[in-house]
Amino acid sequence: MKAILTGGAGFIGSHIADDLIDKGAKVLVIDDLSSGDINNLSDSVEFINLNIADYKLSDQLKKFNGDVLIHCAAQASVSHSIDEPSFDAEVNILNGIKLMDYAIESNVNSYVYLNTGGALYGEPEYLPCDEQHPIKPISPYGLSKYTLENYFDILLPASANFISLRLANVYGPRQDPGGEAGVVAIFAQKMLNNENVIIFGDGDQSRDFVYVKDVAAAVILALQSETNGHINIGSGEQTTVTQIFENLSAEIGYQKKPIYKPERKGDVKHIYLNVEKARANLGWTAHMNLQNGLRETVNLLRSNKEVN
Ligand SMILES: NC(=O)c1ccc[n+]([C@@H]2O[C@H](COP(=O)([O-])OP(=O)(O)OC[C@H]3O[C@@H](n4cnc5c(N)ncnc54)[C@H](O)[C@@H]3O)[C@@H](O)[C@H]2O)c1
Repeated sequence: MKAILTGGAGFIGSHIADDLIDKGAKVLVIDDLSSGDINNLSDSVEFINLNIADYKLSDQLKKFNGDVLIHCAAQASVSHSIDEPSFDAEVNILNGIKLMDYAIESNVNSYVYLNTGGALYGEPEYLPCDEQHPIKPISPYGLSKYTLENYFDILLPASANFISLRLANVYGPRQDPGGEAGVVAIFAQKMLNNENVIIFGDGDQSRDFVYVKDVAAAVILALQSETNGHINIGSGEQTTVTQIFENLSAEIGYQKKPIYKPERKGDVKHIYLNVEKARANLGWTAHMNLQNGLRETVNLLRSNKEVN
């Protein structure tokens, strides 16, 4: 397999790159390092530091002659999308369409798109949300990610395979603790530094936390599958932000109470995903339980701290 992977220097993309290399694939990573980190990349990948919309990519993709595209690059922050909706739309929609054009011209025939499942369905009418749940995003990010999914559906040649994976809240090693998404990494880093932890809202908001290596495994299964369509990827379990705070406090030995601030615009109150379709169509389920996943994440942050 020759795989083109956008956003491969980022949190999720770098785990996908590792799995592809393990499977013996030849991997070309396209990343402009706007939020990714070159240190996340293994020496075994070919890397081009480029915006996915750059016209130079057209020739590069033809030269590489890949057969699959995994589109992972994005502006991935809900709150940034509210502050700068036009930037969000440019990266997540317009740049994505250009990339798709280059890939089609270079004869890629299999596409996997990393969509959001957490910011797509809006305030749910029922839980857990399956793929038939009405789409009612309440942030520009949810809307832009959904819009590109539609472009893929409409513009890809009929002969192409296309799977959009609608991901729940992904957590695990390499998530940026300096960002403002990714509550697990942020809380854990603050706790390890014995700094105050801020909870936006009352902490009762719930999410579906899925471990990053389980997500990478879902991408590999999607690439091997003949299935097309939109598939939720999550733990299928509902966990509150307060539970994350308490679990991490116990793991780290953190004693402070959280500081509460008003909830943020664009964040839904409750979401978790029905993942039956992923099981039935891809043979995928999440393997990592939350307790162990939090422990692995903390251990990695601890070892990074010791190195620095
Ligand atoms: N983290 C989550 O919980 C989550 C949940 C649902 C969906 N997703 C989706 O998964 C994907 C990866 O998210 P992540 O959490 O790893 O974010 P990330 O910010 O760590 O990774 C995104 C990567 O894309 C790169 N990038 C951004 N714009 C680019 C551009 N124009 N050209 C080239 N590269 C560019 C960044 O440098 C970065 O390496 C995104 O598409 C995101 O929408 C993430």
